[in-house]
Formats: sequence, C-alpha cells, structure tokens
Amino acid sequence: MTEISIRSLRSADRENWQDLWAQYNAFYGREGDTALPAEIVDTSWNRLLDDNVPVHGLVAERENTLIGLTHFVFHPSLIRIADTCYMQDLFTLKAARGLGVGQRLIAAVGDACVARGVQDIYWHTHSSNETARALYDRVAQNTDFLVYRPQLD
Ligand SMILES: CC(C)(COP(=O)(O)OP(=O)(O)OC[C@H]1O[C@@H](n2cnc3c(N)ncnc32)[C@H](O)[C@@H]1OP(=O)(O)O)[C@@H](O)C(=O)NCCC(=O)NCCS
Repeated sequence: MTEISIRSLRSADRENWQDLWAQYNAFYGREGDTALPAEIVDTSWNRLLDDNVPVHGLVAERENTLIGLTHFVFHPSLIRIADTCYMQDLFTLKAARGLGVGQRLIAAVGDACVARGVQDIYWHTHSSNETARALYDRVAQNTDFLVYRPQLD
C-alpha cells in the first residue's frame, strides 16, 4: 500500500490545502453563496504559517498529494500553567477515508502537544456525526459538555 505521511503544513501546500479546506467547509454547509470569503481563507492561511500565531496545521500526504488536514490552536488556561490545545478542524478526503488518516492526525496533534509541554486537548463534534464519533470514542473521552453560542449584535 502507498505510504501516507503526516507532517506540518508548509507554504508550498497552499493550493492543495485550499482545496481540502474548501471540501471541509462544504461538509459544514459553507459552500457556494455561504463559502468562506477569500479574505478569511487568506487570513487563516497566513496565520497557520506564522510562527507568532498559536494556530497550527498538520497534513496527511500520499504520493505528493494532501489527503487530510487538522488545524489546532494553543491557548492559555486558568486551571493549569501550560497551554491547552483546541483541535478545531479534522478532515480526510472522501476517497481516503477508513485508512486511519484521521486517527493518525489526532495522534500527531497529541505529539505536537507533548513536544510543547501541553497535556490537554479537546475538540467539538456534532452529536449526529456518527462517523467522527466512532473514531473519537476510540481515542478520547466524551465529556458530555454542550456548546452554547449567543448572538452578538
Ligand atoms: C471524521 C473523519 C475525519 C475520519 O477520517 P478517517 O481518515 O476516515 O478516519 P480513520 O480512518 O482514522 O477512522 C475512521 C473509522 O471509520 C471506518 N471506516 C471504514 N471505511 C470507511 C469509509 N469508507 N469512510 C469512513 N470511515 C470508514 C474506519 O475503519 C475507522 O473505524 P475503525 O478503525 O474502527 O474501523 C472523516 O470521516 C471526515 O473527514 N469526515 C468529514 C468531516 C468531519 O466530520 N470531520 C470531523 C468534524 S468534528
């Protein structure tokens, strides 16, 4: 089987990353009229590559093509000295699902945390996302917390 490697995002990935990112956003209904504006895509890309911004990206690569991505953010916590890690996005190309890419990307975020002295990772998923939950239930604990989001005018 062709080898799949996990590595950090780099500047040459822009086009391939943007294609995967668009597919991930489409999964959440952000496509067509509701697609992310180019300004947001550009800003997020620049943040991902900026060492001074605590936003990071890892990708899965097979035969020089990206087939998966994860983005994660380090932020301070008031109940520990070290930062906490929020894994914001996880996506595997449809044609590459079920090969362990998602699990390996999560493990690689864990490695990035350990390298930084971070011992806490969390993420959200929709309760109806059974595919993702099957994976998450294997590698993490469901905390049963709900996410609330008020409308700010
Ligand atoms: C959730 C997601 C990232 C998982 O990625 P993945 O690379 O398929 O993950 P893995 O291969 O590590 O694990 C997937 C599980 O589904 C099983 N599976 C088998 N065939 C599959 C297929 N064709 N498609 C999806 N899952 C499959 C895998 O075997 C594995 O379970 P198992 O190891 O117990 O058998 C991917 O389905 C995805 O991108 N979904 C759309 C976006 C999304 O929901 N992201 C998460 C938001 S919180």
